[in-house]
This record gives sequence, structure tokens and C-alpha cells, in this order.
Amino acid sequence: MRYSKLNDFPDHFLWGASSSAYQAEGAWNEDGKSPSIIDMYEHPKEYADFKTASDHYHRYKEDIRLFAEMGLKAYRFSIAWTRIIPDGTGEINPAGIAHYRDVIQECRRYHIEPIVTMYHFDLPYCLEEKGGWSSRETIDAFEAYAKVLFTHFGNDVTYWLTINEQNTMILHPGAIGLPKGGTLPSKKELYQQNHHLMLAQAKAMKLCHKLCPRGKIGPALNLTAMYPETCNPSDSIAAHNWEVLRCWNFADVPVFGWYHPLAWSYLVHREMEPEIAPGDREILMGADPDFIAMNYYSTATIAASRGDSTDVSARAGDQQIMLGEEGVYRAADNPFVSKTKYGWVIDPEGFRYTLRKVYERYRLPILITENGIGAPDRLENGQIHDDYRIEFIRRHLHAMRLAITDGVEMLGYCPWAALDVVSTHQGYQKRYGFIYVDRDEFDLKEMKRIKKDSFFWYQKIIEENGNSL
Ligand code: BG6
Repeated sequence: MRYSKLNDFPDHFLWGASSSAYQAEGAWNEDGKSPSIIDMYEHPKEYADFKTASDHYHRYKEDIRLFAEMGLKAYRFSIAWTRIIPDGTGEINPAGIAHYRDVIQECRRYHIEPIVTMYHFDLPYCLEEKGGWSSRETIDAFEAYAKVLFTHFGNDVTYWLTINEQNTMILHPGAIGLPKGGTLPSKKELYQQNHHLMLAQAKAMKLCHKLCPRGKIGPALNLTAMYPETCNPSDSIAAHNWEVLRCWNFADVPVFGWYHPLAWSYLVHREMEPEIAPGDREILMGADPDFIAMNYYSTATIAASRGDSTDVSARAGDQQIMLGEEGVYRAADNPFVSKTKYGWVIDPEGFRYTLRKVYERYRLPILITENGIGAPDRLENGQIHDDYRIEFIRRHLHAMRLAITDGVEMLGYCPWAALDVVSTHQGYQKRYGFIYVDRDEFDLKEMKRIKKDSFFWYQKIIEENGNSL
């Protein structure tokens, strides 16, 4: 669809940026914090671990001041459950509450809207030892944790995100590190965990609506449209298979209260469907998310399964993520898109396409909670010339403006990341921030904050409410 004039970005559009606790904060064992699974899992030894990260825990004031200078209207960050309730359940840690209260107040001081992720991959390790998400007790623990968050911060936070990328955790469990011993749960067990996460999420959403009069809450999923490799109908069926299993099944449950029919059939026919306890259906119904939060990086191109062992392959540039499944789909190449240095597809038009699909399906406003390009930024004479990042974000924002003109309701844009953080797989060799954190993989140096070229570019875009895009 071509237009002679594009719609403006909405007034009060949340121009923001993102981070997560374990990738930004450091201070992994300070002020009463207990270890999370991230702290205890095995990660590649050649990259930085998460113990010090970008030291955001100690430097949040300086960081938020810089965010304000950049003109951010919103800051999406996550709260570490392990700081709030170190034992996973029970006693509240006053130092944890005080820390996040300060972070929220600091945002408010600069009129930055805090957008809080309640859970970004970092389950308290003590709960993992008791069965983690395989145990129904973790649902109650999460509900109790949610209640603490809403009670303490409900007056100061409007936007809540329940669980970051539940679909990544279930479909690519190795992506967040390997449990000691290296064994990952079976698919059946993962789908049981998924069911428990869905129940925990629904309970948190209901609680938010009850306890926070101004509160708005949504799931934060990694969503992307799929292209069939050719117009062969079998490729289209395969692309639809994977789009449903990877995306819609995870968003349908909070919005519609039950699993996607195709996904449910897939689970039943493979004997992987979760056990449903009496009362579960009622819990899942009526969670009523207020918006869909969405992380978007790339699209995928899909072909029909050949039904042999070659259907499964590693995602380009990322050995931890395996794609393809016999009888379901296989990953294919797309000659019409480029790729990042790490092999991730760059596809702004696919962003527009995905936004249309998400809005058409759920008719809820969309908040972008991640989007960005990982790159090995180079510090030259005290500056970082990240023109590739400016280009990437500019093209995605233009695609978003087209989607807005298409009729998609957008709440805001919080790219990854506000500042450099530890990448899930490539430490500080792969950076995403608008603000450079001067440290190496193992040499912490002074962790000086340096504004990248993209910082000044984004500042201008925010100032003009995206009018030049
Ligand atoms: C998202 C995660 O999937 O991707 C972030 O929510 C992560 O936590 C981001 O950092 C980028 O991935 P990576 O592996 O390049 O850091």
C-alpha cells in the first residue's frame, strides 16, 4: 500500500529504550540479592559473565540522567525477582524495594515513563532447585512476587510487562545458558513449563487490574512474520506452522484464554500436551492484556520439511538456537534481505508486515519493547560512529510509520538497548546501546559512559516526534 502522505506518530508516543536487570545491573550478589538461574547456568567462557555487567545497579542515576538528555520519554527495564524476594517466596528484601523505588523515582524526576518487565529470564535459583517452572508451586511464587511489585510500585508504574520472551525460553531453552551438567528439559516438559508460565502470567494480569487502578499490563513476546520460501503451497503451510508454533500460540493464550487450535493439535499428536488441572481454564480466561509488547529483530523464511535429519539446523551465527523440525518446517534463505555481522536477518519491511499481522489478530495497541542491531562497536578517538545502527533504526522507524498509516495502533518504541549491556551470547563483543560502556570482555576499565553517534541522532528524532522519518 502506497500513500501520498504518512500519518504522524501519535502524541505522547513513548519514545524509549530498553535494558534488563541481569544484562545491565551487575552487583549480582549485593544488598541481599540471591543468585538467579542466569548467575548459575553455564555460559561460554570466552565472554563476559553477568556478575558486573554495565554496573547499572550503582550507576543508574548517571545513566538515567543520560537517558533524559537523549530525550527518552520511556525507559523499559526489568526488576530482578532475586532482589525483591531472595528466597523466591516469603520474606521481602527492603534493599531491593528501595533500589527499584529509587530507579522509578529517578525516571519520574525526568518525566521518563518507567516500563517494568517483571521477569526477564532470571528465575531465582532456589526455585529452580525445587523444580523451577516444572513445579506448580512456582506459579504461586510468581503471583506472590507480582503482588509485592503491584503493592509497592503500583502507584508509580503504569506499564507492566509480565514475562520477557516466553517463546524463546520454551522453544530455545539453551539460549539463556545451560543448566549445570548441560541437560535441557524434554519438549514435553518444556510445554508443561509453558503452561505454568501462562497460568502465572494470567494471575499476574488479573492481580494488576485489581491492585493498580492506572495499571496496564501485557505479555512481551518475540514476534515475527514468516515468509514461505516459494509459492509452493507446502512452503506456505510450513511457514504457517512455524508462525503459529513460534508466535501466535504464545500470544493467543493471554488474549483469548486458550491455546491456538493448530498448536494444540501439534501438541496432542506428539503427546506433548500439558496436563491441565481443574480450574486452569478459568484462570487463563479473562486475563485481558491491555496491549501486546513485542520484541522484533528479524523475519524468517520457511520451507516444507523434507522429513529427514537435514530439517534441523543452527540459526545463522548462533549455535545455541536450532531451527527446523521434521514434519513441521525447515529454515530457508531469503535472497531479498541483508544480514547483520551475526547472521541475523535485517528486514524493516518485515517489521511493517509483522505489526500489521499482530494488530489484525489481536486488535490491541502494540508497544515495541526490543528492536536493534548488535555490532562490535569501535571506540575511535573517544567517539563511536555507529552509522549502521542509525540506518537500522531509521529504516525500522520508517516501516513503523508506514504501519501506523496502515492503521496499526502503536504505543511506543523501546529499542534494545538504552546502553551497552552484556549480550546473551557474545558478551561485550556485540553491542546494542545508544550509550557506549567502556569496558572489555574481562577488563572492566572505568566503565565510562560515552554517547554514540546514534545517541544524538535518536535525540533529534524524539525532539521532532519522528516527523522526518
Ligand atoms: C532478546 C532478549 O531476545 O534478544 C535480550 O530479550 C537479548 O535479553 C536480545 O539481549 C539480543 O540478543 P543477544 O543474544 O544478541 O544479546
